[in-house]
Amino acid sequence: MNSETITADAAGTWKLGDLPVHRIGLGAMRLTGSAAFHLGTPSDRERSLAVLRRAVELGVDHIDTAAFYFSSLRSANELINSALAPYADDLVIVTKVGPYRTYSGEWGTSARPEDLRGHVEENLRQLGRDHLDVVNLRRMRQDSIAEHFGALAELREAGLIRHLGISGVEPRHLAEAQAIAPVVCVQNRYGLGFHDPATDELLRLCGEQGIAFVPFYAIAGENGERGAGTAHDEAVRDIARAHGASPAQVRIAWTLQQGPHVLAIPGTGDPGHLAENVAAGALRLTDDEVARLDGLRRSAGDGR
Ligand SMILES: NC(=O)c1ccc[n+]([C@@H]2O[C@H](COP(=O)([O-])OP(=O)(O)OC[C@H]3O[C@@H](n4cnc5c(N)ncnc54)[C@H](OP(=O)(O)O)[C@@H]3O)[C@@H](O)[C@H]2O)c1
Repeated sequence: MNSETITADAAGTWKLGDLPVHRIGLGAMRLTGSAAFHLGTPSDRERSLAVLRRAVELGVDHIDTAAFYFSSLRSANELINSALAPYADDLVIVTKVGPYRTYSGEWGTSARPEDLRGHVEENLRQLGRDHLDVVNLRRMRQDSIAEHFGALAELREAGLIRHLGISGVEPRHLAEAQAIAPVVCVQNRYGLGFHDPATDELLRLCGEQGIAFVPFYAIAGENGERGAGTAHDEAVRDIARAHGASPAQVRIAWTLQQGPHVLAIPGTGDPGHLAENVAAGALRLTDDEVARLDGLRRSAGDGR
């Protein structure tokens, strides 16, 4: 595959509420530094800015971020603002709230419902916007999300947020949220190397209802927040070889082939990986290849 010439429209489009996006986007979590949640070496600023600008040149119009994506010296939201403001009208920036980190990077207790306005406003300040396109409520193990989601629904009514999504949830939370306000996306961990039947059920429910399903760790798979490894199952390697593609591209293509409502947000701070990931939107696996990868996944653990 010629990764330098394929653009994000090759993956097709979907709508987040009334906002059209290409099905290949960019996750911003890897732009800030070397370690997961980025307490490690801060990234090279110019390189991260270049990744963002190149992503937009390649047609990426969906960026996933959060105020809590920061390292000692870099903030994903600030990088997005510096690289891309004034923002193109068609750029959709999706943020998430729920988790909380102190200034020194330690995880705090999760946000209380009454904290969420401040967390939304922090995203607005950092991104330099007067409203947020989409905000996901990232569930932090609470049994019910009603109070938190209700607080975000009020901010939506107040015009600070255009659309709402949920993340880290089970199927019952989708129904719980929808009783309060419309849900345009569900963001859960999903991919080769990881299998959670409840998330399969969510993917199906989202497809039935026209809701976007947005996997995270689709490349990192079994490694999760530790990032992508170099170990890949033989099936992934074989299929990659057959298409002249990389294992990461096969992982992305497999997730996209789970339904037209599946949106990829591969995370990278590497310009070469960015081009490769966008090009994965043009990779079509055969039914046999998808079935082989499905089998691989069914035997994977759920990471717990
Ligand atoms: N809702 C949630 O709870 C939640 C949790 C985690 C993440 N997220 C969101 O989901 C996005 C995706 O998750 P993620 O970034 O952690 O994981 P990911 O997209 O599965 O994989 C990222 C890892 O893969 C590497 N990588 C990317 N492209 C590659 C390629 N073509 N070849 C080889 N390695 C490649 C990255 O390193 P390089 O930088 O070196 O490319 C990084 O280590 C995040 O950026 C974030 O926006 C949401």
